[in-house]
Amino acid sequence: MRRQLVAGNWKMHGSLEANSSLLQALVAAAPAACDVAVCVPFPYLAQAQQLLAGSSIALGAQDCSMHEQGAFTGEVSAGMLREFGCGYVIVGHSERRSLHGEGDAAVAAKAERALAAGLIPIVCVGETLQQREQEQTEAVIGLQLDAVAHLLGRHAARIVLAYEPVWAIGTGRSASAAQAQQVHAFMRARLGHRGVDAGSVPMLYGGSVKPDNARELFAQPDIDGGLIGGASLKAADFLGIVDAARSH
Ligand code: PGA
Repeated sequence: MRRQLVAGNWKMHGSLEANSSLLQALVAAAPAACDVAVCVPFPYLAQAQQLLAGSSIALGAQDCSMHEQGAFTGEVSAGMLREFGCGYVIVGHSERRSLHGEGDAAVAAKAERALAAGLIPIVCVGETLQQREQEQTEAVIGLQLDAVAHLLGRHAARIVLAYEPVWAIGTGRSASAAQAQQVHAFMRARLGHRGVDAGSVPMLYGGSVKPDNARELFAQPDIDGGLIGGASLKAADFLGIVDAARSH
Protein backbone atom coordinates (compact mmCIF):
# COMPACT_ATOMS: atom_id res chain seq x y z
CA MET A 1 0.00 0.00 0.00
CA ARG A 2 1.54 3.29 -1.10
CA ARG A 3 1.08 6.28 1.19
CA GLN A 4 0.24 9.68 -0.20
CA LEU A 5 3.03 12.28 -0.06
CA VAL A 6 2.71 16.02 -0.50
CA ALA A 7 6.10 17.69 -0.92
CA GLY A 8 6.60 21.44 -1.18
CA ASN A 9 9.29 22.74 -3.52
CA TRP A 10 10.04 26.27 -2.37
CA LYS A 11 12.50 26.84 -5.24
CA MET A 12 14.54 30.03 -4.70
CA HIS A 13 11.98 31.67 -2.44
CA GLY A 14 11.96 32.51 1.23
CA SER A 15 13.57 34.60 3.94
CA LEU A 16 14.26 33.83 7.58
CA GLU A 17 11.16 35.78 8.55
CA ALA A 18 8.80 34.35 5.92
CA ASN A 19 10.03 30.79 6.49
CA SER A 20 9.45 31.09 10.18
CA SER A 21 5.78 32.06 9.86
CA LEU A 22 5.15 29.53 7.09
CA LEU A 23 6.72 26.62 8.98
CA GLN A 24 5.07 27.55 12.26
CA ALA A 25 1.68 27.58 10.54
CA LEU A 26 2.34 24.15 9.00
CA VAL A 27 3.52 22.65 12.29
CA ALA A 28 0.53 24.11 14.15
CA ALA A 29 -1.81 22.38 11.69
CA ALA A 30 0.04 19.11 12.45
CA PRO A 31 -0.80 17.25 9.25
CA ALA A 32 -1.00 13.51 9.75
CA ALA A 33 -2.28 10.50 7.86
CA CYS A 34 -0.27 11.38 4.79
CA ASP A 35 3.41 12.18 4.43
CA VAL A 36 4.32 15.86 4.15
CA ALA A 37 7.70 17.35 3.30
CA VAL A 38 9.13 20.77 2.51
CA CYS A 39 12.14 21.10 0.22
CA VAL A 40 13.84 24.37 1.14
CA PRO A 41 16.85 26.30 -0.20
CA PHE A 42 20.18 25.10 1.28
CA PRO A 43 20.87 28.09 3.57
CA TYR A 44 17.54 27.58 5.33
CA LEU A 45 18.03 23.90 6.18
CA ALA A 46 19.20 24.58 9.72
CA GLN A 47 16.34 26.97 10.40
CA ALA A 48 13.77 24.55 8.97
CA GLN A 49 15.31 21.59 10.82
CA GLN A 50 14.90 23.48 14.08
CA LEU A 51 11.35 24.66 13.41
CA LEU A 52 10.19 21.21 12.24
CA ALA A 53 11.81 19.31 15.12
CA GLY A 54 9.31 17.02 16.79
CA SER A 55 6.71 17.53 14.04
CA SER A 56 5.54 15.00 11.45
CA ILE A 57 6.73 17.22 8.59
CA ALA A 58 9.87 15.97 6.86
CA LEU A 59 12.64 18.16 5.54
CA GLY A 60 14.11 18.01 2.06
CA ALA A 61 16.44 19.84 -0.31
CA GLN A 62 16.08 20.68 -4.00
CA ASP A 63 19.28 19.21 -5.42
CA CYS A 64 22.48 17.43 -4.41
CA SER A 65 25.86 16.76 -5.94
CA MET A 66 26.52 13.61 -7.93
CA HIS A 67 29.85 13.42 -6.07
CA GLU A 68 30.43 12.23 -2.55
CA GLN A 69 32.87 14.99 -1.60
CA GLY A 70 35.86 16.88 -2.98
CA ALA A 71 36.86 19.90 -5.04
CA PHE A 72 33.43 20.82 -6.39
CA THR A 73 33.00 24.50 -5.57
CA GLY A 74 29.41 25.44 -4.92
CA GLU A 75 28.16 21.87 -4.70
CA VAL A 76 26.35 20.36 -1.73
CA SER A 77 26.62 16.66 -1.00
CA ALA A 78 23.82 14.29 -0.05
CA GLY A 79 25.73 13.47 3.15
CA MET A 80 25.66 17.13 4.15
CA LEU A 81 21.90 17.22 3.61
CA ARG A 82 21.52 14.17 5.80
CA GLU A 83 23.47 15.93 8.57
CA PHE A 84 20.85 18.68 8.53
CA GLY A 85 18.02 16.22 8.98
CA CYS A 86 16.88 15.91 5.38
CA GLY A 87 14.80 12.89 4.51
CA TYR A 88 14.25 13.83 0.86
CA VAL A 89 16.05 15.51 -2.00
CA ILE A 90 14.59 16.52 -5.35
CA VAL A 91 16.78 15.50 -8.29
CA GLY A 92 16.31 16.18 -11.99
CA HIS A 93 13.76 18.97 -11.62
CA SER A 94 13.03 20.35 -15.10
CA GLU A 95 14.53 23.70 -14.08
CA ARG A 96 17.82 21.94 -13.33
CA ARG A 97 17.59 19.90 -16.50
CA SER A 98 16.91 22.92 -18.73
CA LEU A 99 18.77 25.76 -16.96
CA HIS A 100 21.77 23.76 -15.72
CA GLY A 101 22.08 21.19 -18.50
CA GLU A 102 21.54 18.16 -16.28
CA GLY A 103 21.07 15.03 -18.35
CA ASP A 104 19.61 11.67 -17.42
CA ALA A 105 22.99 10.20 -16.41
CA ALA A 106 23.67 13.07 -13.98
CA VAL A 107 20.18 12.74 -12.52
CA ALA A 108 20.70 9.00 -11.98
CA ALA A 109 24.10 9.64 -10.35
CA LYS A 110 22.54 12.18 -7.98
CA ALA A 111 19.74 9.78 -7.09
CA GLU A 112 22.32 7.10 -6.34
CA ARG A 113 24.27 9.47 -4.05
CA ALA A 114 21.07 10.39 -2.27
CA LEU A 115 20.22 6.74 -1.65
CA ALA A 116 23.73 6.02 -0.42
CA ALA A 117 23.39 8.85 2.10
CA GLY A 118 20.07 7.51 3.37
CA LEU A 119 17.89 10.09 1.61
CA ILE A 120 14.83 9.42 -0.52
CA PRO A 121 15.39 11.00 -3.93
CA ILE A 122 12.35 12.59 -5.59
CA VAL A 123 13.25 12.03 -9.24
CA CYS A 124 11.43 14.37 -11.62
CA VAL A 125 10.48 13.50 -15.18
CA GLY A 126 8.32 15.30 -17.72
CA GLU A 127 7.90 16.46 -21.28
CA THR A 128 7.92 19.96 -22.78
CA LEU A 129 4.92 21.38 -24.59
CA GLN A 130 6.64 20.87 -27.92
CA GLN A 131 7.36 17.23 -27.11
CA ARG A 132 3.73 16.68 -26.10
CA GLU A 133 2.48 18.31 -29.27
CA GLN A 134 4.78 16.09 -31.32
CA GLU A 135 3.44 13.06 -29.45
CA GLN A 136 6.81 12.31 -27.90
CA THR A 137 5.61 12.33 -24.29
CA GLU A 138 6.03 8.60 -23.73
CA ALA A 139 9.31 8.42 -25.63
CA VAL A 140 10.84 11.25 -23.56
CA ILE A 141 9.58 10.02 -20.20
CA GLY A 142 10.48 6.45 -21.08
CA LEU A 143 14.13 7.42 -21.54
CA GLN A 144 14.14 9.52 -18.35
CA LEU A 145 12.80 6.51 -16.45
CA ASP A 146 15.15 4.02 -18.06
CA ALA A 147 18.06 6.04 -16.65
CA VAL A 148 16.94 5.29 -13.07
CA ALA A 149 15.36 1.86 -13.64
CA HIS A 150 18.43 0.05 -12.24
CA LEU A 151 18.08 2.04 -8.99
CA LEU A 152 14.33 1.42 -8.85
CA GLY A 153 15.02 -2.26 -9.38
CA ARG A 154 16.92 -2.29 -6.09
CA HIS A 155 14.99 0.34 -4.10
CA ALA A 156 11.44 0.57 -5.53
CA ALA A 157 9.90 1.86 -2.31
CA ARG A 158 12.84 4.17 -1.43
CA ILE A 159 12.63 6.36 -4.51
CA VAL A 160 9.79 8.76 -5.29
CA LEU A 161 9.05 9.67 -8.89
CA ALA A 162 7.41 12.96 -9.80
CA TYR A 163 5.73 13.45 -13.16
CA GLU A 164 5.93 17.16 -13.89
CA PRO A 165 4.94 18.20 -17.40
CA VAL A 166 7.17 21.20 -18.11
CA TRP A 167 4.25 23.11 -19.66
CA ALA A 168 2.32 22.86 -16.39
CA ILE A 169 5.05 24.11 -14.05
CA GLY A 170 4.40 27.61 -12.73
CA THR A 171 2.01 28.32 -15.59
CA GLY A 172 -1.30 27.93 -13.77
CA ARG A 173 -2.15 25.30 -16.40
CA SER A 174 -2.23 21.94 -14.66
CA ALA A 175 -2.47 18.71 -16.58
CA SER A 176 -6.00 17.36 -16.33
CA ALA A 177 -6.46 14.48 -13.93
CA ALA A 178 -7.00 12.18 -16.93
CA GLN A 179 -3.81 13.37 -18.68
CA ALA A 180 -1.76 12.92 -15.51
CA GLN A 181 -3.23 9.49 -14.79
CA GLN A 182 -2.49 8.37 -18.33
CA VAL A 183 1.20 9.24 -17.97
CA HIS A 184 1.43 7.72 -14.49
CA ALA A 185 -0.07 4.47 -15.80
CA PHE A 186 2.44 4.52 -18.65
CA MET A 187 5.27 5.04 -16.13
CA ARG A 188 4.22 2.00 -14.10
CA ALA A 189 3.93 -0.10 -17.24
CA ARG A 190 7.34 1.01 -18.51
CA LEU A 191 9.01 0.26 -15.20
CA GLY A 192 7.23 -3.08 -15.00
CA HIS A 193 8.78 -4.02 -18.34
CA ARG A 194 12.17 -3.13 -16.89
CA GLY A 195 11.62 -5.62 -14.07
CA VAL A 196 10.79 -3.00 -11.43
CA ASP A 197 8.13 -3.70 -8.80
CA ALA A 198 6.30 -0.67 -10.19
CA GLY A 199 3.29 -1.04 -7.90
CA SER A 200 5.38 -0.07 -4.90
CA VAL A 201 6.97 3.06 -6.40
CA PRO A 202 5.33 6.26 -5.06
CA MET A 203 4.53 8.58 -7.97
CA LEU A 204 3.65 12.24 -7.49
CA TYR A 205 2.14 14.67 -9.94
CA GLY A 206 3.53 18.22 -10.08
CA GLY A 207 2.65 21.31 -12.09
CA SER A 208 0.19 24.00 -10.97
CA VAL A 209 -1.38 21.87 -8.24
CA LYS A 210 -3.73 24.02 -6.17
CA PRO A 211 -6.24 23.22 -3.41
CA ASP A 212 -9.06 23.24 -5.95
CA ASN A 213 -7.56 20.73 -8.41
CA ALA A 214 -5.62 18.54 -5.96
CA ARG A 215 -8.50 16.32 -4.94
CA GLU A 216 -9.28 15.15 -8.45
CA LEU A 217 -5.60 14.61 -9.29
CA PHE A 218 -4.92 12.64 -6.11
CA ALA A 219 -8.03 10.51 -6.63
CA GLN A 220 -6.42 8.90 -9.70
CA PRO A 221 -5.33 5.32 -9.04
CA ASP A 222 -1.69 5.80 -10.05
CA ILE A 223 -1.15 9.25 -8.47
CA ASP A 224 0.20 9.14 -4.92
CA GLY A 225 0.30 12.84 -4.06
CA GLY A 226 1.95 15.96 -5.36
CA LEU A 227 5.11 18.02 -5.73
CA ILE A 228 3.96 21.56 -5.10
CA GLY A 229 5.77 24.71 -6.18
CA GLY A 230 3.99 28.07 -5.93
CA ALA A 231 1.19 26.84 -3.69
CA SER A 232 3.69 25.49 -1.12
CA LEU A 233 4.66 29.06 -0.19
CA LYS A 234 1.27 29.87 1.30
CA ALA A 235 0.32 27.89 4.41
CA ALA A 236 -3.41 27.88 3.65
CA ASP A 237 -2.91 26.64 0.09
CA PHE A 238 -0.35 24.01 1.03
CA LEU A 239 -2.51 22.73 3.88
CA GLY A 240 -5.51 22.65 1.55
CA ILE A 241 -3.54 20.39 -0.77
CA VAL A 242 -2.43 18.22 2.15
CA ASP A 243 -6.09 17.87 3.10
CA ALA A 244 -6.90 16.68 -0.40
CA ALA A 245 -4.25 13.98 -0.12
CA ARG A 246 -5.37 12.99 3.32
CA SER A 247 -8.79 12.00 2.09
CA HIS A 248 -7.36 9.23 -0.12
P1 PGA B 1 4.26 24.74 -9.54
O1 PGA B 1 5.71 24.04 -9.54
O2 PGA B 1 3.40 24.01 -8.54
O3 PGA B 1 4.53 26.17 -9.16
O4 PGA B 1 3.71 24.61 -10.93
C1 PGA B 1 5.86 22.65 -9.38
C2 PGA B 1 7.32 22.29 -9.40
O5 PGA B 1 8.09 22.90 -10.16
O6 PGA B 1 7.76 21.38 -8.66
